[in-house]
Amino acid sequence: MKKVCVIGTGYVGLVGAAVFADWGNSVVGVDIDEKKIAKIEEGIMPIYEPGLDEVVLRNIKTGKLSFTTSLAEGMKDADMILICVGTPMSDTGAADLSYVWAVAKEIGQNLKKGDKYVVIITKSTVPVGTNERVKQIVREYAEEGVEFDVASNPEFLAEGRALEDMKETDRTVVGTENERALTVLREFYGHLDAPMVECDLRTAEMIKYASNAILATKISFINEIGQLCERAGADVGLVAKGMGYDKRIGRHFLNVSIGYGGSCFPKDVAALYKTSTEEAYDFKLLRSVMEVNDSQMHHFVRKIRKVFGINMEGKKIACLGLAFKADTDDIRDSKAIKIVRELRGHGATVSVYDPQAMENSRRELGDKDITYAEDMYSAVKDVDAVCILTEWGEFKNIDIEKLWRAMGSSKRKFVFDGRNLLDQKKVEAQGFTYFAVGKRTNGYNEFLLEDEEKRGFVTTALLKSQNGKK
Ligand SMILES: NC(=O)c1ccc[n+]([C@@H]2O[C@H](COP(=O)([O-])OP(=O)(O)OC[C@H]3O[C@@H](n4cnc5c(N)ncnc54)[C@H](O)[C@@H]3O)[C@@H](O)[C@H]2O)c1
Repeated sequence: MKKVCVIGTGYVGLVGAAVFADWGNSVVGVDIDEKKIAKIEEGIMPIYEPGLDEVVLRNIKTGKLSFTTSLAEGMKDADMILICVGTPMSDTGAADLSYVWAVAKEIGQNLKKGDKYVVIITKSTVPVGTNERVKQIVREYAEEGVEFDVASNPEFLAEGRALEDMKETDRTVVGTENERALTVLREFYGHLDAPMVECDLRTAEMIKYASNAILATKISFINEIGQLCERAGADVGLVAKGMGYDKRIGRHFLNVSIGYGGSCFPKDVAALYKTSTEEAYDFKLLRSVMEVNDSQMHHFVRKIRKVFGINMEGKKIACLGLAFKADTDDIRDSKAIKIVRELRGHGATVSVYDPQAMENSRRELGDKDITYAEDMYSAVKDVDAVCILTEWGEFKNIDIEKLWRAMGSSKRKFVFDGRNLLDQKKVEAQGFTYFAVGKRTNGYNEFLLEDEEKRGFVTTALLKSQNGKK
């Protein structure tokens, strides 16, 4: 059993601290955010992650897990220090490593001669070369003669299923510079029934970015296939199903949508692209992945604009879903939040509902021209249109008849389904004008072609011949 210090108690650090304590280690979670630490100590989780509160509280009770705002206290006698602070996107697209550098400095300042050997492990997603710099910084600030190593151990958990992902990971990646550090990590993770990829620091750092980049690429790929399906009259959902049975392809990350968001994919793809430019390599594929992702959201909004016009004053629109994906309260870089902003920018009155992300969204969006509803049926009361923006299970199971009634009487009612959650036949049978993504609904193929023509992509002749085919 190890004495472990986890720095940063966010989605990765808090889940990690709880799981490591559950494995029998003695764990201290450290965060500079005093409110966060006070909340956790009271048993209130600062983030929504299914099952997390139970594991945290159980381990606090047995004394295996504690929290502090003092790094000096947290890292006292530790065998392992895990850095789990944020690495957000900077203005240039590169990862902002200021939190990592600050932590490295503070670790160094608190390492004293005579302290036991410790491995400083970066779990945060960091560009190639970061761990080497962490080592230099620690060395610079630590007392002469302290014994430590650095290691890269990127985290692959997905929000919404973070606990399972950490306990039953597909693989553990460990980048080290020597046997001594590797032995510590082998002992720590050895009980897991998962392969361990042992490599150097730079390779471990690259594995994390390459993994997120391929997932983002799959999403952009299926979104482009969806664009083609809308024009050509195919159904992207069934295309993905047909592709997904092929084990070489797999069904995961082939869901058409309004584009990927969240605290990882956008910043990690951008950071990897930035790394490639710094290495004098033009990573063309990644550039397209980002471009496609941006245009996917605009494509969705264009459909709404086509119906209501640029000026949406007097229109009421409900947005169901604000989190960047289901089963989380995380709204960082959420496309749903961006869409709410755009609709509001066009003058629409917007009502919103999300099962978990209301508090975070209110903080982000404010109260002007937005109604924060108690539930999905209150959100849709008397609106002209409903947008489904996050794939929550409760939206999938929405009662279509109840939705129809809640939206009031006599006018035309629209559903813009950004996740293809609803059953098109049922929704249309109820009388809704339904717009999905990646399949033809409501003849919008024509207006898509018109838009392409305006952008100069298709000629009038091609447009005519396409329209003639329908
Ligand atoms: N969220 C995910 O799904 C996920 C998955 C895999 C990897 N990652 C990576 O893990 C890292 C952390 O992500 P997150 O989502 O947990 O971030 P987060 O923003 O939820 O949490 C980071 C925490 O670090 C704390 N912190 C910042 N500076 C500190 C300091 N000097 N001392 C102590 N605490 C400090 C912050 O207060 C915050 O609580 C990022 O690099 C991210 O890319 C995230």
